[in-house]
Amino acid sequence: MSLLELRNVSRDFGGLRATDDVSFHVEEGEIVGLIGPNGAGKTTLFAMASGFLPPSEGQIWFDGRRIDGLDAPAICSVGLARTFQIVRPFGEMTVLENAMIGAFLHEPRRDAAEAAARQVLQRVGLDGREEQIARTLTLAGRKRLEVAKAIATRPRLLLLDEVMAGLNTVETAGMIELVLGLRRDGISVLVIEHNMKAVMQLSDRIVVVHHGRKIAEGEPEQVANDPEVVRSYLGGSAA
Ligand SMILES: Nc1ncnc2c1ncn2[C@@H]1O[C@H](COP(=O)(O)OP(=O)(O)OP(=O)(O)O)[C@@H](O)[C@H]1O
Ligand SMILES: [Mg+2]
Repeated sequence: MSLLELRNVSRDFGGLRATDDVSFHVEEGEIVGLIGPNGAGKTTLFAMASGFLPPSEGQIWFDGRRIDGLDAPAICSVGLARTFQIVRPFGEMTVLENAMIGAFLHEPRRDAAEAAARQVLQRVGLDGREEQIARTLTLAGRKRLEVAKAIATRPRLLLLDEVMAGLNTVETAGMIELVLGLRRDGISVLVIEHNMKAVMQLSDRIVVVHHGRKIAEGEPEQVANDPEVVRSYLGGSAA
């Protein structure tokens, strides 16, 4: 049984089919990359898996239970958390308070939530920043805070939507280390990423979408050499 399984999932926005009959799975302990051109439907897949959007058709299963139709808090409670492509810290709140929001899911007591949030901030390398107002963090800091908010809910599967976008080489390397560390902690990861070098380095398997459809799936090297993937996405500059 897969940890996450999408079965023939489609999503329409008016006349636009943003996701078209997509099936794939993530196994426990895996890091799976989800790649494809702008507008391919990657974020829409995340929104459906995490309960922010219902699929128009198809089924989504998590750890043997059907989750399409559940709302976002319910899906978070079963162990699936996401970050947002456009980072969404509660800007006027401190870094610690942001992380505590996630921690409250399992720790209703304030002192316990705070202790859990502090641990999570240390895990993502934001210790020392606890009292800083979230909006004053650098982009790299806000991306790490997105991860902190998500892992504070103690997910078994983490969906990361372009957490490396806009980061410099050093910051990107730090984020790769962080994601690999989370996997060592026992969190499985599905990652959307345009940075080909990063996604190839991180992923055990890669799923490629184009115009809403899955066009390829396999190990990084296999996918990077797939003629259709090269034609529709990687172009001449294949990784
Ligand atoms: N809420 C919405 N209402 C209408 N159309 C939408 C909505 N969300 C996404 N779309 C459309 O669905 C298609 C897929 O968008 P999506 O954001 O999933 O792509 P993406 O692969 O994440 O792209 P990017 O790499 O640019 O983030 C696009 O054509 C987009 O304009
Ligand atoms: Mg997107």
